[in-house]
Amino acid sequence: MRGKEYTPGDFESTKHDNLRPQFYEGMNTIKTLGYETEDFIHHFPCFTGHLTLARFISFYESYRQTLGLAGHIAEIGMFRGAVSFFFAKLIKHFEQYAMTQVHGFDWFQGNQPTEADKNITPGGYTESYERVKKLVECQGLDNILKVHKMDVMTELKGFFERYSHLQFKIVFLDAGQHEIVSAVLPYFWERLNKGGMLILDQYNFDVAPGETRAVREFFGNVQVRTFPNGWMPTAYIVK
Ligand SMILES: C[S@@+](CC[C@H](N)C(=O)[O-])C[C@H]1O[C@@H](n2cnc3c(N)ncnc32)[C@H](O)[C@@H]1O
Repeated sequence: MRGKEYTPGDFESTKHDNLRPQFYEGMNTIKTLGYETEDFIHHFPCFTGHLTLARFISFYESYRQTLGLAGHIAEIGMFRGAVSFFFAKLIKHFEQYAMTQVHGFDWFQGNQPTEADKNITPGGYTESYERVKKLVECQGLDNILKVHKMDVMTELKGFFERYSHLQFKIVFLDAGQHEIVSAVLPYFWERLNKGGMLILDQYNFDVAPGETRAVREFFGNVQVRTFPNGWMPTAYIVK
């Protein structure tokens, strides 16, 4: 269960409070059982929580729903890259020959929220670019997963001038601050294929109210859907 990186709010973030004691107790017990790294890799369902699984089922469903649409997959705010890696591996399975790739964007400096997003912990989600790149390389994923180390607030314009052809079928926004979502939406919405999905990690969620505000300001009256069997990501918009 995620949540340590945020100051809890009053509403949505309390929904799973009843699960937290057992979750943390279980996690602490697992750490004492002597499993090895290989066990966590090969037998991950023994350890991974059902809400984390729900998260990846939502991404899988999104991927299946958009299979056959032209375009790449983008993750804005990738942290360790779990979602980008997941999509890259789905591409290995389902699109062996199609040109689809994953583009992960992050500045690898963690969250640096402004006053407008005070529920977000400064410095949370800091990861090393070099470590993510190593993880890509050691799994032979360099041809599918492209990691872009950049400040998406200031460097996307130049990026899309240089790579003007890039189109997407899935855009996953997970840098829930108002100013970031506002800055990146115009670039990615324009390049999202019709029928493609814009996936929002924290829409309608009190841990990151700035994300919802930015979506409301950009789209006005648009249908925002949710994954009924999911958790986070909380929402998506089909273009
Ligand atoms: C919530 S984390 C992403 C989690 C990730 N999507 C996952 O599912 O594990 C938000 C990420 O946004 C990144 N970030 C914050 N501000 C940024 C900026 N201005 N430019 C690029 N990345 C930024 C942070 O470094 C952090 O890794």
